[in-house]
Amino acid sequence: MISNDDELTSIIIFGASGDLTWRKLVPALYNNYVKGRMTHCREIVGFARRPFTDETFRSRLFEGVKTFSPESFEQARWDEFSAKLVYFQGNLDVPEDFKRLDEYLVQREGKPTNRLYYLATAPEHYIPVVHCLGHAGLVDQSESWRRIIVEKPFGNNLSSARELNKVLHSVFDESQVYRIDHYLGKETAQNVLFFRFANTIFEPIWNRRYVDNIQITVSETVDIEHRADYYDGVGVLRDMFQNHLLQLLSLVAMEPPASFEADAVRNETFKLLSSIRPISLPDTVRAQYEGYRQTEGVASNSQTPTYAAVKLYIDNWRWKGVPFYLRSGKSLSAKTSQVIVEFQRPPHLMFHLPDEFQFVPNILSLCIQPDEGIHLMFEAKVPDSDQDMRSVDMEFKYRDSFSGVLPDAYERLLMEALRGDASLFTRSDGIEAAWKLIDSIANGWETSNIPELSLYRRGSWGPTEASALLARDGRLWRLGCVGE
Ligand code: BG6
Repeated sequence: MISNDDELTSIIIFGASGDLTWRKLVPALYNNYVKGRMTHCREIVGFARRPFTDETFRSRLFEGVKTFSPESFEQARWDEFSAKLVYFQGNLDVPEDFKRLDEYLVQREGKPTNRLYYLATAPEHYIPVVHCLGHAGLVDQSESWRRIIVEKPFGNNLSSARELNKVLHSVFDESQVYRIDHYLGKETAQNVLFFRFANTIFEPIWNRRYVDNIQITVSETVDIEHRADYYDGVGVLRDMFQNHLLQLLSLVAMEPPASFEADAVRNETFKLLSSIRPISLPDTVRAQYEGYRQTEGVASNSQTPTYAAVKLYIDNWRWKGVPFYLRSGKSLSAKTSQVIVEFQRPPHLMFHLPDEFQFVPNILSLCIQPDEGIHLMFEAKVPDSDQDMRSVDMEFKYRDSFSGVLPDAYERLLMEALRGDASLFTRSDGIEAAWKLIDSIANGWETSNIPELSLYRRGSWGPTEASALLARDGRLWRLGCVGE
């Protein structure tokens, strides 16, 4: 069903008493409201088990908006916005409660109204909620549209992701399903496609003839904090690689889609992920930060990696032979997400250079966060020298070129789902292709113990094995964004 801007929409959040609603969803909806983008939103209904009233629900969310959106918070705007927030108490696996929800909604809506469901619950509730929505008849689109946003994690491996897709498809059509990867909602991640395909000068060199290697770093300074229940047994591969790193990789490496339509973009994502050569275990590194096993809730002999690095190849005409190095971890030296495109050396250097001269290749850094922007390092002659050269930095920074704070990823993603544009959401085939790759590494690690799990110091850049992975190829990890 096509979205019509004159129609009203109810947003129903399952798991409304949880952290995500408080920390991300409602602040994002509030910001969209302040920007005048929520005129078609009739009400936001929080569904959860706890015995809140509309009032207690609102006051909890009030704290969240003040804490997480301090720049845009204004009491008067909050008072208008919060009138849209209501609470419905129910169980996530009781079809009767969903029938009651439907009656409640129909009564409040008064006329055919679109509905956007948001699965913000713990993942074990996804399947029961989808079944209940189906059984209670809450997905009937005969008069207005029904869509569902599914939070990550989307499964824990290929088979659970397939199962979840199967259940979703038994109730919803694929076109109604919006699977979140919040990295796709980041302005800087979307800008990778604009940088590549709204300019003519980069694409001709974006291939194996000019690029030596590409690196993706997503590092965090935080440890697993209080998330041991979720994290232990999941680990960095499933938590970060299956989704965020592979999505960044797709944006950087995909072929140009013919249009910016959801399926055109997602066809290219799927093609790209399917072209990745099965990853060889000796090309991977897994590690744990020191002290991880002493965290409350973590098994004392846990093998869960909090850091991983992977080398992979994409077997297509554009990228054949170009290594892609990906790394991510917790408790590292800096929080940064960046993509480094390292170009090849010039075929011949005609200058007379001192023996100790170390050549630095051209490096393009796409800075996803923080220090959002783009840097290009190139060689320049040192003034007043004979033939000496040095790398200089040509830079673009969002904060210098655009005014205002960059919106949170959830603002954009919620708007796109309300508009019915799924370009920034993952499709079932893409999710499964990503899990296939991750499963082969995770299963290999479990069965062969290659490579062994190593340890790294908190606050470092990870284990020495990660540097060795690149040193073996005569390369090193690079960081090109300021602020790390
Ligand atoms: C989430 C992971 O998906 O992404 C977290 O579950 C991680 O473990 C977070 O901390 C990182 O997101 P961002 O936007 O801060 O890089």
